[in-house]
Amino acid sequence: MFAEDWTRKYFQALKEVSESIGLCRMFITGLNTNIDGLRHVKGEEVERIIAERNLEREIQHKLKHPPREIRTFSDVLAGILFCVKSGEGEEWFIRDPKITEMNKSIFGYDRLRMGGQCGIMTNVLALLNFRVIPNVVALPRIQAELFTTSGGEIIIPRTEGNRIVFKKPLEAVRGNDKTFIHWIFEFDDQFAARINGETVRAPVENRFIATFDDENIKLKIDPAFREGTLEVISRVGTVMLSGYHMLQSNYPDGSKPEDHIKNTIDLIKSWREKNTELRIHSEIGFVADNKIRKSILNLMTPNVNSIGLNEGELADNLYTLGQRDGLEEIRALSATKTYQGARKIMEKYRLSRVIIHNRDYSLCLISSSHGIKPQSELHSILFGALLAAALAYTGNFPTIKDAEKALRSGELKISEKALKEHQKLATFLENQEDYPKEKFLKDGFTVTEPFTIFIPSNLTEPRATVGLGDTICSASLAAEEALTRREQKPNQN
Ligand code: GLC
Repeated sequence: MFAEDWTRKYFQALKEVSESIGLCRMFITGLNTNIDGLRHVKGEEVERIIAERNLEREIQHKLKHPPREIRTFSDVLAGILFCVKSGEGEEWFIRDPKITEMNKSIFGYDRLRMGGQCGIMTNVLALLNFRVIPNVVALPRIQAELFTTSGGEIIIPRTEGNRIVFKKPLEAVRGNDKTFIHWIFEFDDQFAARINGETVRAPVENRFIATFDDENIKLKIDPAFREGTLEVISRVGTVMLSGYHMLQSNYPDGSKPEDHIKNTIDLIKSWREKNTELRIHSEIGFVADNKIRKSILNLMTPNVNSIGLNEGELADNLYTLGQRDGLEEIRALSATKTYQGARKIMEKYRLSRVIIHNRDYSLCLISSSHGIKPQSELHSILFGALLAAALAYTGNFPTIKDAEKALRSGELKISEKALKEHQKLATFLENQEDYPKEKFLKDGFTVTEPFTIFIPSNLTEPRATVGLGDTICSASLAAEEALTRREQKPNQN
């Protein structure tokens, strides 16, 4: 299929989903909500900061042996350059609050924005006009102000007396709560810094996250969120649950990551007892520690229906499962290897949906038990990807109108790389599974199990890189629920 055909499909998906989106009303999101301090960094300034502090050799060493956590300020600089060099996005934890102060005085931030998968998805869904119940462990005013007040309604459960009430974020503020700012150092593909005679260049735009947080890392569930969601769960179709990537191998209180995972599973089980049809999706996120990855995979994954990963996360998790071949190809966005990897995880954990999203395309596998037709899933993912493209294009979380405007602007370009990868995947599926190549190329999905859906991204000069995965994920899940409801509606003709 050519780029023009895909643009037509994008328009069609927008129409289909917009017509049905009102069929769903309410979503639950969890678990991590924080503030993102966004800072666009340039090569020259990082180079200057390193030179002024005489850190060239230390940084060069750390680029070869990344510490993957932040104990000194040079770890922040090393993290930025490490991500620049590989073009991948990583998140390292700040172990000393002093570093946060140094970040503030040396870099500062360009602006604050809603952060955390839960926080971002909440805003995306509210802008689509839904009612959303997020888990928010710390709600100082500065955090509450980052929830959008446009579109639908964001409501936060609180205990009053012995009952649960749902409040607007500003009414639910707890002034003494902590403020968690995660530093998002964004760079573009023009970034170049010279360190000791070596030039570190960014092959693509991306970001490095330096996180200071001591509540979300425990996957803390607000007690009122637990109670409040149990009251409404029978009316909810989809829960989006993330934040597991923030788990640490040790905690000062002696708890273990597995304890915190199990605590969330208890809640999942209680929800399922009250609603057997519930779909739960989790975004996996970047986890540096192999042992924690294993615990997340083995404990959490079997309890959800659907997961989302980017290319690096897919490669890392396959590594955890013992795979050593094909990981570099996955990082280089080979659709064939991505398909095989996603399928392996889907089968091992009996998931009904796995979506892999990267800069150039999204590939989703669903089983018939997921309860949606592959063509509707294609439209859902196109819709989610369009909203993500609109976020990249404008730098702000979009409404459906913004997404339409971005699509009509003519400034979004279908990824050429994706079209090539689609071809290769189609050839592979024809050879391995006898699926007619031309049909998959024309439709963008297969009709044999697992249903395979492939869509190219709409690329643009990005004004935002953070939150793209969360946007495609939440918007496509909302669309998926809407189109599922449409399919289930008795034929009115
Ligand atoms: C991670 C970061 C958070 C950021 C999010 C974006 O969860 O901790 O700060 O907003 O990723 O997906």
